Amino acid sequence: MSEPVRKESKNPDVSRRQAFVQLGVGSICAASAGAMVFGYEFLTPNVLYEPSPIVNAGKPDGYPPGTVTQDLPSGLYLVHGSEGLYALSAVCTHLGCLTAWKPELGIVACPCHGSKFRRDGSKIEGPAPRPLRWLKIWLSDEGDLLVDRSEELSRKQFVRT
Ligand code: FES
Repeated sequence: MSEPVRKESKNPDVSRRQAFVQLGVGSICAASAGAMVFGYEFLTPNVLYEPSPIVNAGKPDGYPPGTVTQDLPSGLYLVHGSEGLYALSAVCTHLGCLTAWKPELGIVACPCHGSKFRRDGSKIEGPAPRPLRWLKIWLSDEGDLLVDRSEELSRKQFVRT
């Protein structure tokens, strides 16, 4: 009678038990790494970074006397009136539509519900409850016009050039 043939693994150093231990350790490491990633995301604040409210409008020379310049990306008007340069928000005070300067009429008009404003932002007609917002404007040390869109002025402010 012959003896049963015992099958040897190809790698005698790794037994079945060791393979299961390594698989378990690997699973625990993968689960720990996943938990650390989710834990980090849970603990870090979910912040939305917005662009600065301060706009560099360039040199005052770009705004000749008597002009109204609309800066569409910034949502503001730069007006050079008789008292100097000032900045108005182009956002309608009714429901927030972007208004447009109508040079042929000399007014600012809102395309949504028909509000109309003078070049100083005061209301002519329409459902807008308030005039357009006057924004803080000043000259930087380099001589550029800076406008802070987040700061509404309670009284008129001009930059004289
Ligand atoms: S949003 Fe301008 S009139 Fe309504």
